[in-house]
Amino acid sequence: MSHKYRALGTLLTGLALLNAPAASAQKAPKASKAAAVAKATPDYFPAADMMTIGVYYYPEAWPESQWARDFANMRKLGLEFVHMGEFAWGLYEPQEGKYSLDWLERAVKLASQAGLKVVLCTPSAAPPVWLAENHPETMMVSAQGRRQAHGTREQGNWSSPLFRQYVAKINTQLAQRFGQNPAVVGWQIDNELSHYGRQFSYDDFSKTKFQAWLKQKYGTIDNLNRDWGNVFWSQLYQNFEQIRIPNPDELVATPNPHALLDFERWFADEAADYIREQAATLRQHSRHQWVTTNHMATHRDVNPALTRKDVDITTWTVYPVHGEVFPENGPLGFRLGNGAMLGFMHDFTRPLNGYSGVMELQPGQVNWGDVNPQPLPGAVHMWLMHAFGSGANLICSYRYRQPRAGSELYHYGFVGPDGVTPLPGGLEYAQAMREVTQLRQLRKPNATMPARHAARRTALLYNVDNRFDLDNQTSTTRWNSMGHLLRYYRGLKTLNCPVDVITEDQDFSKYPFVVAPAYQLLDKTLVDRWTAYVQNGGHLVLSVRTGQKDRRGMLWEGLWAMPILDLIGAKFNDRPFDMLPGQVKGQVTAAAKKYDWGSWGEQLVPNAGTNVLATYADQFYAGAAAVVTRKLGKGTVTYVGAESLAGDLERDVLRQVYAAANVAVENLPDQLMVNWRDGFWVATNFTSSKQAVPAPASAKLLVGTRELEPGGVAVWQE
Ligand code: GAL
Repeated sequence: MSHKYRALGTLLTGLALLNAPAASAQKAPKASKAAAVAKATPDYFPAADMMTIGVYYYPEAWPESQWARDFANMRKLGLEFVHMGEFAWGLYEPQEGKYSLDWLERAVKLASQAGLKVVLCTPSAAPPVWLAENHPETMMVSAQGRRQAHGTREQGNWSSPLFRQYVAKINTQLAQRFGQNPAVVGWQIDNELSHYGRQFSYDDFSKTKFQAWLKQKYGTIDNLNRDWGNVFWSQLYQNFEQIRIPNPDELVATPNPHALLDFERWFADEAADYIREQAATLRQHSRHQWVTTNHMATHRDVNPALTRKDVDITTWTVYPVHGEVFPENGPLGFRLGNGAMLGFMHDFTRPLNGYSGVMELQPGQVNWGDVNPQPLPGAVHMWLMHAFGSGANLICSYRYRQPRAGSELYHYGFVGPDGVTPLPGGLEYAQAMREVTQLRQLRKPNATMPARHAARRTALLYNVDNRFDLDNQTSTTRWNSMGHLLRYYRGLKTLNCPVDVITEDQDFSKYPFVVAPAYQLLDKTLVDRWTAYVQNGGHLVLSVRTGQKDRRGMLWEGLWAMPILDLIGAKFNDRPFDMLPGQVKGQVTAAAKKYDWGSWGEQLVPNAGTNVLATYADQFYAGAAAVVTRKLGKGTVTYVGAESLAGDLERDVLRQVYAAANVAVENLPDQLMVNWRDGFWVATNFTSSKQAVPAPASAKLLVGTRELEPGGVAVWQE
């Protein structure tokens, strides 16, 4: 296996300390920073470093006499930064207005003396007990109408003006104390906003802010009644003050889907506003520090795209092995995690503002899954090197020491309960850090992406609004919006396409290929952009459910999916879509191959000049078109009207699109993830079997061997 653990002593040589950011090359100032004063923005993530690795540490949980030892041991593992303080509000401000930050300053100093940079956090995710006692109105209200109590975390209500004031006060204290401290290189805002997912607050502050947002959007209540279709079931409102947050717990039937869509948009806007406000407080006092917030992987409540210009780096968190089975990765999937999901998140966060990283990654077993298996030996190292290949600027592990108390005491750290003995996962981080350090020496500063690879650059267009609407009205329990996106992502990675997952406000015209899966909500402007893109030579792939509704979530008063019909060169049959119950499978045939489907199948009627790539093989509509493609101007547009169970139809259609465009692609096994970064090719094996490394015979492997075990990694230069 490629994951051989090495004795610690051999890992520790030759690790140059990085320059303090203030001393690094300056870049032009970035525009539109909230409350930013005009100043040169430091080069926070020097290109030559490529990726840096750090770890979470909770000095407040351990005797001060052990801090220096712990920091020294982190450094011995090769780590370059330490992350502290995201849950320490109760220690920073033990009584209202009485601050205690000296201990943190001592910890920062010791970390710096050990050669570690420091990332500090705003502590708003874990408010102190006195806040709940003195000001219960700052706490969230559950869907059942209960005021949330002190005792865990995440109970603070961001929509309470008073809560925000207390957050601003503690953040100001922290920023004043550490904003000029050269050892502190960055700030994390809060912790995984909406961590517990779909836990909204149903209090009056939130309701009032939601109402104000609606008023701003609709102007009059009549407009809102029209766009929410409120005449249905006599849901009509007479004024905005009557509107409540859609709450399934107080409604007899499913909430109005248009109300839900707007509520989710408001919630994402409110979270973004909260992030911006915290960033503004920090920036008032800090000169040289980057700002981020750590988003949860693939959660839909908080949208990283909304704050892409307000943070310096977009970071996210992921625990790839937590009891999910991931059958698409074979029998070892539950120990390896889902490479496509990880890749999707890397490829989504990187283009947002050019800097991205994983702020939390497990070093071993977690405690919170239904079942918590051990990751495969080598998997932790693979996740790190996959992040490296995907262009991540930083990785931070949760956490350094396994806790001896509290809800997470079964959660692995770099070191076990004795506080000193590195666990296998900790050693895998050290291995990755050592490899990245060596690769830094080999980096060619002007490396450009090989032309054959650049020729297949692909944008996967993603708008979380589609997920909101699809997930709120799936029509079938077999539908999974993220699963649908990942079918296309997986297909693209088997062709070895470099993928950027981008949002509509980013420019897709520069990509030779654009894939927009299940793009349910759209408007004429977007269809015009797509049409112009294709006419100018782009290759566009659309899939099921695209264009069924307008941005309000309403069907068109006209033919099914009316706005896209001219573009795709087809219409939908008078039974536009079907879905199959239980485990029933239908089949689609393309080029004499059969594909199973079950969740969603649409019948297309091609116009003259549109080619059929796949037809239904059974059901009463056997022979109807399932996939169509056409030339338009200098480009092509392809519409995939069925979702296959295994993702094989999507992959094979993509392959045909690239072939028709005369662009060479590769044929990698699903979940053998291959990426190019800074002149390095990186292959990571998320499959359950041995895989050959797709490196030319002439290439010298810098990491790994030519045959990869499950969890194996290879790095090479051309
Ligand atoms: C994360 C969270 C951390 C910790 C971790 C345990 O989602 O941000 O604070 O709870 O899970 O795996």
